[in-house]
Amino acid sequence: MKGIILSGGQGSRLNPLTKVTSKQLLPVYNKPMIFYPLETLLKAGIKDILLIVAPEHSDDYLKLLGSGAEFGARFAYEIQDKPEGLAQAFVIGANFIGQDNVCMILGDNIFDHDFTRAIQNFKKGAQIFAKQVADPERSGVVQFNEQMQAVKIVEKPKEFLSAYAITGLYLYDSRVVEVARQVKPSARGEMEITDLHNWYLEKGELQVDVIEGQWLDAGTFESLFEAGEYARKKANAIKN
Ligand code: G1P
Repeated sequence: MKGIILSGGQGSRLNPLTKVTSKQLLPVYNKPMIFYPLETLLKAGIKDILLIVAPEHSDDYLKLLGSGAEFGARFAYEIQDKPEGLAQAFVIGANFIGQDNVCMILGDNIFDHDFTRAIQNFKKGAQIFAKQVADPERSGVVQFNEQMQAVKIVEKPKEFLSAYAITGLYLYDSRVVEVARQVKPSARGEMEITDLHNWYLEKGELQVDVIEGQWLDAGTFESLFEAGEYARKKANAIKN
């Protein structure tokens, strides 16, 4: 299983914090934000990791993370020239992925959930993780039937669909590269990851697991603040 951390974008919702640096390098309590998703992958045993970064900040990422040796891993780097969507990561990462399965995590997603078992058991198809939230309209949303099988997935639905948001950690087999190549930009000009989920859903090859642990997407002032507070409590609980 290969790993990708998508850490591009302009973080425009966090201006002026992101005027001179990347959103995913901002501090979340005592670490740069990207350390959290990185630790999620490392903890699950993923050692080959591609970092996809914005061109303006690639030198900072290299300085911070280097070859990966310090983390007992191997890091590769690619540039996403423009923030043209999450699905584009699989086009950019095509050579890196090759014939392997891949786990992508978003550089601003902080989880308190252990994905080790899911990642190690993953064979084929796609597997994504949903969590019940108060504000599902901010995310991709999945609707389940009575047997808790996914029936519909919509990116940031305008009308209420369900309270299950799709979190930013995704498992796919290597077919994802070809599927991503066919994705057309949405109305907001992005290659939506939701299109990839729907491709696997139509084939009956999408598994959606509900997670209970904490999940934060630290992309707004409120959620960044909340993430810092959460990380501080957690770090202190471990110390004591
Ligand atoms: C993206 C995805 C969305 C997913 C979310 C998780 O949203 O498009 O499906 O639920 O990440 O963080 P965006 O980064 O565009 O807000």
